[in-house]
Amino acid sequence: MARLTLLHVVASILVWTCWTTGMTDGLSLEHRLQQLTDNYMELKGNLAEKDDQLEALKRRQNEMMQMLVEKEIRFQDLKEKHEMLVEQVTRHVRDKSLRADVSIGHQSGRAMPTSCQDLSQIGHVLSGLYSVMATEMVQNVYCDFSKLPSEAGFETLIGFADVKSQPTYFYVQTSANFNQTKVPIPFDEEMLNVGGAMNSTSGIFTAPRTGNYFFSASGIAYIPASSSALLYFHIVLYVNGSRIGLAHAFSDELAAEGGQHETFSLSSTLNLQAGDQIWLEIFGMSPGAYMNGNGYTHFNGWLLQENLSSSA
Ligand SMILES: *[C@@H]1O[C@H](CO)[C@@H](O)[C@H](O)[C@H]1NC(C)=O
Ligand SMILES: *[C@@H]1O[C@H](CO)[C@@H](O)[C@H](O)[C@H]1NC(C)=O
Ligand SMILES: *[C@@H]1O[C@H](CO)[C@@H](O)[C@H](O)[C@H]1NC(C)=O
Ligand SMILES: *[C@@H]1O[C@H](CO)[C@@H](O)[C@H](O)[C@H]1NC(C)=O
Repeated sequence: MARLTLLHVVASILVWTCWTTGMTDGLSLEHRLQQLTDNYMELKGNLAEKDDQLEALKRRQNEMMQMLVEKEIRFQDLKEKHEMLVEQVTRHVRDKSLRADVSIGHQSGRAMPTSCQDLSQIGHVLSGLYSVMATEMVQNVYCDFSKLPSEAGFETLIGFADVKSQPTYFYVQTSANFNQTKVPIPFDEEMLNVGGAMNSTSGIFTAPRTGNYFFSASGIAYIPASSSALLYFHIVLYVNGSRIGLAHAFSDELAAEGGQHETFSLSSTLNLQAGDQIWLEIFGMSPGAYMNGNGYTHFNGWLLQENLSSSA
């Protein structure tokens, strides 16, 4: 009996425990189910929102893809146009340089630019002052390469450049009196002889280049006294043996004794060919006359302007 009671108690406790536990479990399950349901609804809501966002993203991506495709097409288009232009420019430059070779050589008979157009053809692009070859001289021109050759102001002439292939000028004197006729007058005092065209020993100047030259001679002649006639002294500038200029010194009064000193001078601007020879000679004089030395007689000459087309 006691055993049974103990068993009963134990069983009762177990049953009670089970019952109370069962009660508690039942309550919490319901609560959790509610929680889970809430969570599920919340998640479902979020999911739907994300779905919308995804849809929007997809649409945006499609739009971007579309744009990319369009840009790619446009890029290919531009690339083709660019390649075409490069080819055109290359062909143009090649043709131009070929033409330049031909026309520059053709115009002047040598490969020297004679104009802004020639300079442009051989590749000059910066506007500015340039030297070009004219027929006989070098010219300075302003080239405005922002203009077309046919436009006014493409080429502006500034002026002729004083270009000489070699400097040529001399100044000589005589220290001794001289009285020989029909021979070139030598000059023993050489003050300057740049270029060496003047041979003071022979008195002969040889033009080194074709061009224009200037010469001047001046001095004093001694004319002896004469009571019967006016006496004279003639001096002449020769080019290759041809008389070019003549200067005279005359006595201006009859006198029984005591000679006179008279001045003479001549100057000349001459167009000479390279190799032409220039000198001074006493062409004729009265007996006893002479040309004074001691630095009284001067001979100058210089190349004014060279004909460059002849010196090449
Ligand atoms: C200058 O002339 C003299 C006389 O004719 C000649 O002997 C001499 O060689 C000439 N000098 C030159 C540099 O030609
Ligand atoms: C002048 O004489 C020089 C020397 O003899 C010669 O070389 C030249 O050709 C002559 N010039 C003319 C124009 O005859
Ligand atoms: C040149 O001068 C010399 C010396 O004074 C003289 O002997 C000669 O006769 C003169 N010649 C001429 C052509 O006058
Ligand atoms: C310059 O030289 C060329 C070629 O020799 C010639 O035709 C022209 O007449 C010359 N000009 C002058 C001013 O000497």
